[in-house]
Amino acid sequence: MPQSVPLAVPLLDLRRQYDGIREDVLAAIARVCDSQSFILGPEVEALESEIAALTGAACAVGCASGTEALWLALVAAGVKPGDSVITTAFSFFASASAIVRAGATPVFVDVDPGTLNLDAVAVGRQLRDHQLRTKRLKNLRAILPVHLYGRPADMNAIREVAAHHNLRVLEDAAQAHGALKTQLKRYLSPALLILDEVGYLPIDQRGADLLFQVISQRYERRSIVITSNKTFKQWPSIFNGDSTITSAVLDRLLHHAETVIIEGSSYRMKDRIET
Ligand SMILES: Cc1ncc(COP(=O)(O)O)c(C=O)c1O
Repeated sequence: MPQSVPLAVPLLDLRRQYDGIREDVLAAIARVCDSQSFILGPEVEALESEIAALTGAACAVGCASGTEALWLALVAAGVKPGDSVITTAFSFFASASAIVRAGATPVFVDVDPGTLNLDAVAVGRQLRDHQLRTKRLKNLRAILPVHLYGRPADMNAIREVAAHHNLRVLEDAAQAHGALKTQLKRYLSPALLILDEVGYLPIDQRGADLLFQVISQRYERRSIVITSNKTFKQWPSIFNGDSTITSAVLDRLLHHAETVIIEGSSYRMKDRIET
């Protein structure tokens, strides 16, 4: 009988990623050692501005670790001992342990099988569930979704549920750095990109950032056709009433695009049946 050979599967293997960035990592460590600025200093400042630019945040603050950052964010959001926070069990253990460290109790809710991230529908169901309308729900303070493996959770839906129940939302984006960049790559390569029916669904801030970048970066390089049933005046409603994002996107679009207005009856099946 053939002998079975035990196979060692590491919990986490970053070797392949490290091999590709080894020179950069070692050079950065050397820069810090040479400068003798081991706490804060120009390297941390540079990282903070790069992360803020990458994520589109107003500012970024460097912390000792991701776990520390999550704990600080929870405490800053007012989560205190005795509270509970909804999150997902399918994550690195820091998502739940930061909640425990803030003295609160994690309430685990199921994930969406498509993204493997917190399912907003399940969160809503859980919140409505009578069993949770006991002591634990009374002290519920926040929802902590995780963007696992660089794939964003459905933030529109999660924010909607949170707003309905007056809960804070804190995102664990430890695995999502550069998710925007990765998504962007997908939209830059095709020779022609058609974004059909913009405005049919609302676009959140991440989507707006992506749309803005796609329009800017494809300009004079690749074609893009955007269709919408909404007049430009109605566009703020597409971006949840955010006038800054709307003007940024429209500014890019109107400077670089030709607008064709098609008047007349719709060819949609629903409209044709009704007329
Ligand atoms: C989803 C997630 N959250 C939080 C953390 C915690 O980050 P750190 O290891 O820097 O404490 C990690 C680390 O891998 C993570 O993957």
